[in-house]
Amino acid sequence: MKAAVHTRYGPPDVVRIADMERPEAKANEVLVKVHATTVNRTDCGLRAAKPFIWRFFAGLIKPRVRVLGNEFAGVVEAVGVGVTSFKAGDRVFGYCEGRFGAHAEYLVVPEVGSLATMPTGLTYEEAAPSTEGAHYALSLLGQAKIQRGQDVLVYGATGAIGSAAVQLLKSIGASVTAVCDTKNLALVRGLGADRAIDYTAEDFTNDAHTYDAVLDAVGKSSFGRCRRLLKPGGVYVSSDLGPLSQNPVLALVTPLFGGKRVGFSIPRHGPEMVRYFKGLIESGQFKPLIDRRYPLDEIVEAYRYVETGQKIGNVVISVQPPS
Ligand SMILES: NC(=O)c1ccc[n+]([C@@H]2O[C@H](COP(=O)([O-])OP(=O)(O)OC[C@H]3O[C@@H](n4cnc5c(N)ncnc54)[C@H](OP(=O)(O)O)[C@@H]3O)[C@@H](O)[C@H]2O)c1
Repeated sequence: MKAAVHTRYGPPDVVRIADMERPEAKANEVLVKVHATTVNRTDCGLRAAKPFIWRFFAGLIKPRVRVLGNEFAGVVEAVGVGVTSFKAGDRVFGYCEGRFGAHAEYLVVPEVGSLATMPTGLTYEEAAPSTEGAHYALSLLGQAKIQRGQDVLVYGATGAIGSAAVQLLKSIGASVTAVCDTKNLALVRGLGADRAIDYTAEDFTNDAHTYDAVLDAVGKSSFGRCRRLLKPGGVYVSSDLGPLSQNPVLALVTPLFGGKRVGFSIPRHGPEMVRYFKGLIESGQFKPLIDRRYPLDEIVEAYRYVETGQKIGNVVISVQPPS
């Protein structure tokens, strides 16, 4: 099978398309013929080993995982002994962070992994980008314990995480202020944002409104800068560690003082999460935002684009010709 392989850490062109042996579904595993996947910021971080800390998980000298890709949509090709929830021919989508391997024509995932049948009405290209950004967004919402009716500001509302966060927040009835570039003001309102702030025209930290939560979905702010935006007892959560890796430490310390606090989440995933997103998609409350699409053969270009830090939502890789 064809796969995008990297055998050393480095820039996008360490990735090349190679022939590999097709994996087999062992007991309790599902073999998926991948139709579409994505290149996202996690793939970029792991491929480049940036920040350095990734190497402690991914291999100190060279990558242990040679085929990246953590979200996918495709068709079940075969199932291993003992699999009862899926059968050959099922159209499925899911998330495989930890194992990775979705940048390939075939992928093996555990039956009990983050896998579900496809949401009705979506193509493979539309379904593939519905888990990574959304799962980080869901984790930020969970950490901030957002309730219906609360006021939330999302900084970086046009990224994979931010665009999912705006939609997930609206699905639970929060009031959302989205911070984005001038050219994306209409887009974030279309995602459901009640207010939009153009970060090129004003400093959002000077906003007169106060919020129950500030979600930094692009990792470019800090608790110090956003503190004054929070109501008493409000929470700041970020998708990143912070410029000095301070967010996990602040998440331990700030709750001790009982006032405004930092939350830090270690996202988890499983089949319930994918089924939750499927439900939101089918009820029209969530639609993953797609920026560009590339064929698998052009994955290096996709990496280059994602690394500009300016993608709007998600970058999809068509592994099979688009349906
Ligand atoms: N915890 C993890 O393991 C993990 C995993 C994935 C991602 N992340 C982090 O989460 C962050 C977001 O990831 P993502 O995939 O959602 O990012 P992304 O899609 O690459 O985000 C890019 C978006 O952010 C917007 N943006 C850039 N600078 C901005 C600014 N100063 N203010 C407001 N918006 C700005 C860009 O739009 P414009 O430039 O047009 O404004 C673009 O739409 C990244 O920092 C990434 O490192 C962490």
